[in-house]
Amino acid sequence: IKARMIVDKSFRIAEVDKRIYGSFIEHLGRAVYGGIYDPGHPLADEHGYRNDVKQLIQELQVPIIRYPGGNFVSGYNWEDGVGPVDLRPKRLELAWRTIEPNEVGTNEFAQWTREIGSEVMMAVNLGTRGIDAARNLVEYCNHPGGTYYSDLRKQHGYADPHGIKTWCLGNEMDGPWQIGHKNAEDYGKLALEAAKAMRLVDSSIELVACGSSNTSMATFPQWEATTLDYTYDEVDFISLHQYYGNQENDPANYLARSVDMDHFIHTVISTCDYIKAKKRSKKDMYLSFDEWNVWYHSNDADSKMDPWSIAPPQLEDVYNFEDALLVGSMLLTFLRRADRVKMACMAQLVNVIAPIMTETGGRSWKQTIFYPYMHASVYGRGISLKPVIDSPVYDAKDYTDVPYLDSAVVHDEENEHLTIFAVNRHLTDALDLNCDVRSFEGYVIEEHIVLENDDLKAVNTADNEQVKPHSGGNSTLDGGMLTARLSKASWNVIRLR
Ligand code: AHR
Repeated sequence: IKARMIVDKSFRIAEVDKRIYGSFIEHLGRAVYGGIYDPGHPLADEHGYRNDVKQLIQELQVPIIRYPGGNFVSGYNWEDGVGPVDLRPKRLELAWRTIEPNEVGTNEFAQWTREIGSEVMMAVNLGTRGIDAARNLVEYCNHPGGTYYSDLRKQHGYADPHGIKTWCLGNEMDGPWQIGHKNAEDYGKLALEAAKAMRLVDSSIELVACGSSNTSMATFPQWEATTLDYTYDEVDFISLHQYYGNQENDPANYLARSVDMDHFIHTVISTCDYIKAKKRSKKDMYLSFDEWNVWYHSNDADSKMDPWSIAPPQLEDVYNFEDALLVGSMLLTFLRRADRVKMACMAQLVNVIAPIMTETGGRSWKQTIFYPYMHASVYGRGISLKPVIDSPVYDAKDYTDVPYLDSAVVHDEENEHLTIFAVNRHLTDALDLNCDVRSFEGYVIEEHIVLENDDLKAVNTADNEQVKPHSGGNSTLDGGMLTARLSKASWNVIRLR
């Protein structure tokens, strides 16, 4: 099959906010304990954090990490996780029905994040708690000193404030499974008042209000409209969460799920703009897609798990090659919406539905989804350009007119790099791409990276990395016309400079 594309310097969507390459660490399963923190591990640093895991995260260049939940945060007392570790309580953790030892908390996480060159996106508990605990946590983290909570932080050994800029007003408060679940009216009122108090403590923070937990929620998108009706002037972002799975083993339909994600984004933008109009506001609301990924492989195992242990293996999806293709397309969706999607967090980062896996006390390795995430994060910074695409399309079970060619393009103007990301969704045929890049005079092809595999279900394990990229892609550039052969079912990164 054949497709055509035009890429031009002046077809600008927006500058990519690097925070769309964010991730997420929740106190859940082995994300913290046995994941990032494993004091008995031979590669642990003096504080118990694994250097091998840090290194893998640094390869991903993760700019921001959401913490400490997720569903966990809606039952969390942040005070349990600060101060002398031996005095911290062990608690029944109700979201995931485990025991939380509280060996890691706010200070340790902020310090670890700094060490790996990332930032914290902190979520506050608007489930069992509210305005008071939230504003106290902002004071504890961000106030320089001379007050109860800022001095408490100093007493706990952290003289300098953590300077946490981005804060989530609760998590998935629309979901009946959420501890302290609320209707949109009640959440909207609470989020508004929490936002006001938090901002009075530190006016420099940015706030994210909870949007819908996924597109199938019965309250979507009225939830967004009601919530924003209350909070529009006080918050900067509305959140979106979405996970996909290939339960029906229908790869063509599965690879088209990113089309659904794009509709979701479109609907949320429309809802934001409706409230903007209603309020005669000048401000644009931005989108924080702060949970997204594939999640379904581990559902069965998790449903059989006994409660009340510390750091059991929960949500440990083993990702295959087709998952990496969909993850790639989800990233391309964010890039094409770079004007409104300013943050996104792959959920999650280590062991729990994650690109990085570890054995507690043992090895660590890259899952298949690691690669598109890394490529996008490393090469996808600059100006997102609007590709004009002419591609053959297909019909799948849930979607019609799905283009075989999925693409997004980023121009790093400063370093004069152009990166064309492309997925060929065709499961059996290569796609011959003809791409007009004449506005990039003098550029040459530096590299064509490909992630491909004959087996859509191939996975990576600690012993065997079956799915990994190579640089042997087939593309040529002549007189401003790029010709590339994209193998069947493949993820491609064509780098020009
Ligand atoms: O990321 C796993 C869980 O998915 C989160 O805790 C929750 O917010 C979402 O439902």
